[in-house]
Amino acid sequence: MQQANRIANLPPYLFAEIDKKIAKKKADGVDVISLGIGDPDQPTPDHILKRMCKEVRNPKNHQYPSYYGLPEFRKSIAEWYYKRFKIELNHDTEVLPLIGSKEGIAHILLALVDPGDVSLVPDPGYPAYNTGTILAGGIPHFIPLLRENNFLVDFDKIDEETAKKSKIVFINYPNNPTAAIADINFYNKAVEFAKKHNIVICHDFAYSEITYDGYTAPSFLETEGAREVGVEFHSLSKTYNMTGWRIGFVVGNADVIEALGRVKTNIDSGIFNAIQYAGVEALTSSQECVSKMCEIYKRRRDLVVETLNALGWNVSKPKGSIYIWASVPSGYTSASFATHVLEKAGVVVSPGNAYGSSGEGYFRISLTINDERLKEALDRIRKIL
Ligand SMILES: Cc1ncc(COP(=O)(O)O)c(C=O)c1O
Repeated sequence: MQQANRIANLPPYLFAEIDKKIAKKKADGVDVISLGIGDPDQPTPDHILKRMCKEVRNPKNHQYPSYYGLPEFRKSIAEWYYKRFKIELNHDTEVLPLIGSKEGIAHILLALVDPGDVSLVPDPGYPAYNTGTILAGGIPHFIPLLRENNFLVDFDKIDEETAKKSKIVFINYPNNPTAAIADINFYNKAVEFAKKHNIVICHDFAYSEITYDGYTAPSFLETEGAREVGVEFHSLSKTYNMTGWRIGFVVGNADVIEALGRVKTNIDSGIFNAIQYAGVEALTSSQECVSKMCEIYKRRRDLVVETLNALGWNVSKPKGSIYIWASVPSGYTSASFATHVLEKAGVVVSPGNAYGSSGEGYFRISLTINDERLKEALDRIRKIL
């Protein structure tokens, strides 16, 4: 069998080597603690489960779902958006449910990027921006996210030639993996850049609700002119501990949404209706479960940052996301530090370069593990440093 070039060109899965080492450690009887994956440990809130159980018993929900999502779900998205951001959306043309935001992120590239077109990809960044571009035949152009720039995309540094060839730019705040946040000024610059070069902005807002210390993240669509140039991807995965359910949505520019919808109708057949009703429940019920979840992550964030700082790091407490992004100690690369911590402490951290070459020199800790295990992991790291 000869594989298509488009998959031969995908970058190697950088966690594969670490996965092999984890498997070997486990086989040797080591109690490995993983701080690597950003997958919530808390269960999906009970009221969402109850709705799911009810809807699953309704035979009407066993048939193919509507391609464009249940009107009830689309309406609940528009209502939630208005409550949260005071932005009015047309639930027919400016809202599209997704089988998780990753699905939409990967497919939007098929809608907007032709072979040879450039896609602007933050580095470090969520891998689907890069791999989705390659699968569409596009050329990823990496934009380094640098500490001195608060890990924000610096639009002034993108040269005219590249901007001219670009069709799409990804931004993501609160950010994975750096935990950086963005304000309206930043989004203004993004809109200005997009208008000047006729580029579509895709704001990945997967961590919109996971914020701390009184900070609430603004929507990119709050910026004047944003709806003319872009869309915003949302996910129920992290907000309601629903990673396994596969449900998210995209909102914003109607033409972009229509194009993505056309790709999707030819590839998937929508989200199981019962899950969409569970999504309605999540978005229309009290959001107290979200505040409680943020308190849990805040406690863990404080524990990790304070422990690292007591060990000589200088990490500030991030205002959003479920990650801590820190420099590796001197003398280590991202990979050698991750390997050292795994070999000597039986703890998995993500090497920063797994998210792009500008992530070299960093590691990422995820806060999605219970407090006891997190304390033990930090204690083990303390002992080997
Ligand atoms: C930045 C970012 N975007 C998108 C996703 C995908 O989320 P989902 O497909 O579960 O909605 C993730 C998941 O970790 C993420 O970190």
